Amino acid sequence: MNSSSQPVQSPDGGALSAAVVCRNVEKSFGQGNAVTRALTGVNLEVYAGEMLMLVGPSGCGKTTLLSVIAGILDADNGSVELFNRPMGLLRGAEKTRFRGRFIGFSFQQFNLLPQLTALENAGIPLLILGWPRKKALARAAELLEQLGLADRMSNFPKQLSGGQQQRVAFARALIHEPKLVVCDEPTSALDGRTGEQVIAALRQMAVKPGRAVIVVTHDTRIFHFADRIARMDDGRIVDTGSVKTMLAGEQ
Ligand SMILES: Nc1ncnc2c1ncn2[C@@H]1O[C@H](COP(=O)(O)OP(=O)(O)O)[C@@H](O)[C@H]1O
Ligand SMILES: [Mg+2]
Repeated sequence: MNSSSQPVQSPDGGALSAAVVCRNVEKSFGQGNAVTRALTGVNLEVYAGEMLMLVGPSGCGKTTLLSVIAGILDADNGSVELFNRPMGLLRGAEKTRFRGRFIGFSFQQFNLLPQLTALENAGIPLLILGWPRKKALARAAELLEQLGLADRMSNFPKQLSGGQQQRVAFARALIHEPKLVVCDEPTSALDGRTGEQVIAALRQMAVKPGRAVIVVTHDTRIFHFADRIARMDDGRIVDTGSVKTMLAGEQ
């Protein structure tokens, strides 16, 4: 299957095209008495062109859902479709290739490789896709420059502030022009002001037609950067709506 040439289709011909569709997704960890039902029937749609924030209390299943959507974990039941492609049908190497080509990740705690410079870290997805090193690093340099890190490219992660490391993580998530970008708690290690700055940068760089961006957070200060908010509790989506309606519901 040639996964790279498939166009994004709008199911109803309208402006909203579903990038991610989750139907009754379930996922448990452990067995018997020790079983944890992390996802108990998730239904969610994320549209191309939007930034959706996934919010909810610690332990409600946000990271698990992000991992299932991104194909890092397999669902036990239910289905996940990315750009009309059922994830359950992809296996092994095919799935890994699909992930590498179509999805960009920013993990909690950045996950930068300590022995690589900012430039090299940002270039990793292109190197994995087989780009020549020089070309990959030139593209990484462009992106880091746009993210305000022109003078930090040859620094190692430990020589960077939290906000700078998060920007490198964003560069790595975006460099291969993925159609889906997932970010797990990107501001959790940052102070409020820095958190707002990095999400503003993410919004500006990542949100564009044809691409869906999912940000997991419980940082209410960054909610206003979202197009929509989906609230999770006890392993399922309990509510979705605009930032305004969701915040009003919280009072
Ligand atoms: N690898 C795992 N093994 C066992 N339990 C897990 C694992 N990952 C997550 N869990 C459990 O699943 C539930 C949901 O976790 P998680 O998705 O990390 O929540 P959140 O990201 O919203 O804090 C929690 O009860 C957590 O302890
Ligand atoms: Mg989490």
